[in-house]
Amino acid sequence: MYLKHVLLLKFFELAEITTAILDAKEALDDHQLVAIPTETVYGLAANGSSEIALKKIFKAKGRPANNPLILHFKNLEAIAPYVKVVSAQTKLLAENFWPGPLTLLLEKSDKVPPIVTAGSPRVAVRVPNHPITLELLKSLEYPLAAPSANPSGYISPTNAQHVAAQLGDKIPFILDGGPCTSGIESTILGWEGTTPIIYRKGVITSEQIGSVLGTNPEFNTNSEVLEAPGMLSSHYAPNTSTIVTESVEKTVLEHQDKKIGLILFNENSQLGVTKEVVLSKTGSLTEMAKNLYAAMRHLDTLSLDVLIIEKAPDEGIGKAINDRLKRSSSR
Ligand code: TXA
Ligand code: MG
Repeated sequence: MYLKHVLLLKFFELAEITTAILDAKEALDDHQLVAIPTETVYGLAANGSSEIALKKIFKAKGRPANNPLILHFKNLEAIAPYVKVVSAQTKLLAENFWPGPLTLLLEKSDKVPPIVTAGSPRVAVRVPNHPITLELLKSLEYPLAAPSANPSGYISPTNAQHVAAQLGDKIPFILDGGPCTSGIESTILGWEGTTPIIYRKGVITSEQIGSVLGTNPEFNTNSEVLEAPGMLSSHYAPNTSTIVTESVEKTVLEHQDKKIGLILFNENSQLGVTKEVVLSKTGSLTEMAKNLYAAMRHLDTLSLDVLIIEKAPDEGIGKAINDRLKRSSSR
């Protein structure tokens, strides 16, 4: 099945959207790339121990070589050989949040190829919470390196069709696990000395981490220590010029002569814009995160002049949403 598909792929040059885990395994064993579902966003996965396969990720995404990759594992025990120490805090976080949308930066062992961490002594690891990908990981003898499955700098994909639209001609298979339930990328946590630091905000909040560790993590502010390239501005960005605002009405009025796409948190406007999307009629931040990227992608296909997006309330998951919105609008 896999070989037949590779031959067909050469002919059609399009990925097969499938639920066949064995096909994905065979392709990965053969150093190919496969898109995988996670609870956050879809990943572009490769054998995390194979330099040949890892290089393909950077090529397919147009990703700079200095931007390191997250390794995905089936559980904490599988991570142990890839890191120097599994600390008490790591165990606590794993018990509370894995499988789930938390990535930890830990001292790497020699088992992690340098290309994965872009030369850094720390490796990013997580256990994703998606039944298909967990089953796939259990069938493999190596972890999966997987960045979000989008061209570098663009919005992350939250369903299989998003991946097909942009990377479909570069990979044999997209494992279809339906729409992602969280919808924004994992929270990234590391330590400086004994201080826990959040390097990327996500749906696991600093309050949740603080209540497990007994100390509230700090947010990374030192751009020289670690503003990972993926954390820099001009990421998660639509092609249409994008404005994020608290004053929707005022911003719309300022662009009255233009074709406007409007993304609102929980209520329709009466502003008569070209296209309007409401992310959560019930006003749920979880639902807002889940639907945000699909709405941005959709409006980005409509040849609009400007996307205006309403800021989320700056609390809980809203902080992570606003972080992504800020990056999507800075060029
Ligand atoms: O939710 C997620 O984390 C998704 C799914 C697929 O797991 N993955 C994801 O990967 O968002 P990516 O590559 O799009 O973003 C990972 C971020 C990048 O900003 C990268 O620079 C940072 O993690 N990162 C990875 N390894 C790192 C390391 N060793 N040190 C510092 N930052 C690292
Ligand atoms: Mg990404």
